[in-house]
Amino acid sequence: MTDHARRILVTSALPYANGHIHLGHLVEYIQTDIFVRFQKLRGHQAVYLCADDTHGTAIMIRAQAEGRSERELIAAMREAHLADFGGFQIGFDHYGSTDSEANRRLCGAIWQSLRARGLVTSRDVQQLYDTKAGVFLADRFVRGTCPRCQAADQYGDSCEQCGAAYTPADLVDPVSTLSGTRPEVRTAEHLFVTLEQMHAFLDEWTQRSGALDPRIANYLAGHFLCDPLRDWDISRPAPYFGFEIPDAPGHYWYVWFDAPIGYLAATSEWCAANGGSFESWWHRDGSAPAAEIHHFIGKDITYFHTLFWPAMLEAAGLALPKQVHIHGFLTVNGQKMSKSRGTFLLARTYLDHLDPGMLRYYYAAKLSGGIDDLDLNLEEFTAKVNSDLVGKVVNLASRTARWLEQTGLATDYPADGGLFAAAAADGTAIAEAYEACDFARAMRTIMQAADRANAYVDAEQPWKLAKAGPESAAKLHDVASVAINLFRQIAVYLAPVLPAFATQVGDLVGGPILSWEESQRPLTGQPVGSFRSLMRRVEPAQIESMLAASLAQAKESQAKAPTLHTATNQPPTKGTMSMDSAASPIDSGEALAAEPLAPECTIDDFMKIDLRVARVLAAEEVPEAKKLLKLTISLGGDATRTVFAGIKGFHTPESLVGRLVVVVANLAPRQMKFGLSEGMVAAASGAGATGVYLLSPDSGALPGMRLH
Ligand code: 2FM
Ligand code: ZN
Repeated sequence: MTDHARRILVTSALPYANGHIHLGHLVEYIQTDIFVRFQKLRGHQAVYLCADDTHGTAIMIRAQAEGRSERELIAAMREAHLADFGGFQIGFDHYGSTDSEANRRLCGAIWQSLRARGLVTSRDVQQLYDTKAGVFLADRFVRGTCPRCQAADQYGDSCEQCGAAYTPADLVDPVSTLSGTRPEVRTAEHLFVTLEQMHAFLDEWTQRSGALDPRIANYLAGHFLCDPLRDWDISRPAPYFGFEIPDAPGHYWYVWFDAPIGYLAATSEWCAANGGSFESWWHRDGSAPAAEIHHFIGKDITYFHTLFWPAMLEAAGLALPKQVHIHGFLTVNGQKMSKSRGTFLLARTYLDHLDPGMLRYYYAAKLSGGIDDLDLNLEEFTAKVNSDLVGKVVNLASRTARWLEQTGLATDYPADGGLFAAAAADGTAIAEAYEACDFARAMRTIMQAADRANAYVDAEQPWKLAKAGPESAAKLHDVASVAINLFRQIAVYLAPVLPAFATQVGDLVGGPILSWEESQRPLTGQPVGSFRSLMRRVEPAQIESMLAASLAQAKESQAKAPTLHTATNQPPTKGTMSMDSAASPIDSGEALAAEPLAPECTIDDFMKIDLRVARVLAAEEVPEAKKLLKLTISLGGDATRTVFAGIKGFHTPESLVGRLVVVVANLAPRQMKFGLSEGMVAAASGAGATGVYLLSPDSGALPGMRLH
């Protein structure tokens, strides 16, 4: 460590233990790993922590379906995750589990702080309950006959045949898809964190701490902080795979409560194994020099890391993140990853066909530190890897190393026209780009240096010098010594991105690359090993065979899939969190799989449905209806409608008044038991959903505007 060493604690989001790592996940782990390796190379004390996110309904149901315990399931998945991460050279300093004793203890401590600050309250929530399976169900785990058109086998909240929206209790012969029995509606007490009490703190931290990109800060200000913050439901009734809340027996912390605390637990475990104290990282008055905390996350979980998590840390008096780095999603060939196209690429499938360094480099060359999505275009991938890594970098050594095998490097660094010094001077700009997570800029600058080095070799033509006889031997030795020094200098700069390649270069010449400083002075007199190919060109056939394998795998896993729908841990806010409408490969495909797309329709068909923005003027309970709220909505001016919406239990009447929704405005009025319903409020729900999610237009939309 240098005198100016910083202490940097870095995390990636904890992957769910109910699925394998895919190339979408790797956008995050690779970029975090590059950031950490860069900091270490610079001499800072960087610690990279992660863990499996193991709790929740998804794991519980999957374990049941597979006939094994949750702990068996998460142990197997942990092994698979670690193998995949290892394959991609993701260098965690510690990889924990949220199902650990350290996490249980820290959850308890944070909970005590929340209680002590009066931030916990409780109230009843209605949920469907499967008495045989003994679990609470989302509406989509119930099927039955449509009460309106009598179509069989419809979901619990709406009919695919006639479009009717209803509550599961209205279904004729409702059946739980988990057990085949008739479910019932039950009321259960849930515990909530009253986030609104932290509003002033969150205003200040999100807008002024510098931890967030200004676009994210604005998004939070415009979408959440402009209104009172809703209470956060952080408990689930038994049965639930998680930690039982010590002072609320029968209640479990919701997976999103214990997941980020996993960052603390991983720190505690890393300290126990490596020395140093937890306090020195997370306490505000820790004795060691202040630590920087950096979280890397995908944009879909912004809300948790920029509102809930800082509120929890603040309540517990712990250190707040210096920066939350938020990235976009992965698309493949411009589209959402798709199992049917074979582009839902698992880490393992990639590793079976291609060099992990190539993906690391390609991602680095496309990541500039913003929230934009990253497209893995497989043709561009092939061209870029072949041109940059093979054609520019490896080629430098393959054209020159052999002439140094016998002699080693020149004992005095030869005149090179200022090439080494120029690339050494680039080190400052390259380091700044790495620090800003603008890896694309760093890669461009490095490749420019490689271009200059290749131009030098092209001009000096060492292969001609080799043929020219003994009188050219000294010149050949000098040219090769310059080229190999420029090659190693590039390898130092690329070491955070290509750690395995950097090791191979160190084996060829100069020993292990351990410090950024090694880019600043040429090597002299060192032996040079025998050159062997460090990277081969990607052939289109390799890409084709990877896609074919991925497709075959998708088909096989579909054939083997358990008949039960498996829920995800996706939180109720997931759908409202996207910062744009880009499809997310990070999201589970279960909702779509559970409800395949409707038959194709024409634009004319679509235009028959008049979707409008509307404002909720009034909302009230319908005491006799289990799931309905009666809404009075405005389409602007005098145009108001009464709509019965099946959202009771998921939205309180008072939280709806004033907000904008989307309605089907030309739906034929329908006489219901409780009155005439003159439209339908658009809401999303699906496999794995624990609620019904109303659609909200972006700010700026006004009642009466049509959706096109
Ligand atoms: O979205 C996800 O994949 C979560 N498993 C991330 C959790 S990150 C942290 F909060 F633990
Ligand atoms: Zn119907």
